[in-house]
Amino acid sequence: MILGVLGSGSGSNLQAILDAIDSGRLDASVAIVLSDRADAFILERARRHGIVTGVIDCRGFRSRFPEDAQRETAAVLRGSGVGFVCLAGFMRLIGAPLLDAYPGRILNIHPSLLPDFPGLEAWKQALAAGVVETGCTVHIVDEGMDSGPVILQERVPVLADDTPESLHARIQQAEHRAYPEALRRMAASSLE
Ligand code: GRF
Repeated sequence: MILGVLGSGSGSNLQAILDAIDSGRLDASVAIVLSDRADAFILERARRHGIVTGVIDCRGFRSRFPEDAQRETAAVLRGSGVGFVCLAGFMRLIGAPLLDAYPGRILNIHPSLLPDFPGLEAWKQALAAGVVETGCTVHIVDEGMDSGPVILQERVPVLADDTPESLHARIQQAEHRAYPEALRRMAASSLE
């Protein structure tokens, strides 16, 4: 299982995937890490691990993922031998050019029990809704925002004294277990 990881932020989920590979819990390798932000810490984590990195040129758009940039991204991933793409905090919506290059093979992690609380800062949405339980979801990416078939969910309690920060931290701990496990399941099912 050769992975390409796309992220815009700190890359703690990339780190969890790398730790799972290094400890033998996940039989995979990360061939390349790409970001739409040249200063994203995810790129630094990848470089420290000796992984090839690249910056996606989104032509100055703040949140759009232009189609030509998606085609370039698909070509770079393919050129690196990537079979599965992991979105790990990547803040742009994926469209047809990249989806068509990797049908059913792009995964995302989201900090809620989808279909509840799609979109930004899902842990704040959960607090505002007053739920007693939330969690994280690893799913296959389709054209929608945080939609697509669920591979795995992990539940996380919401505590009475939770702040957005404490809840987000608890969800991220669950994410770091869930993403490697979801990849392990995908690898197993793609061998069947
Ligand atoms: C995670 O909370 C993930 O659920 C969301 O973006 C965040 C990425 O965190 N999609 P990190 O960059 O992996 O630390």
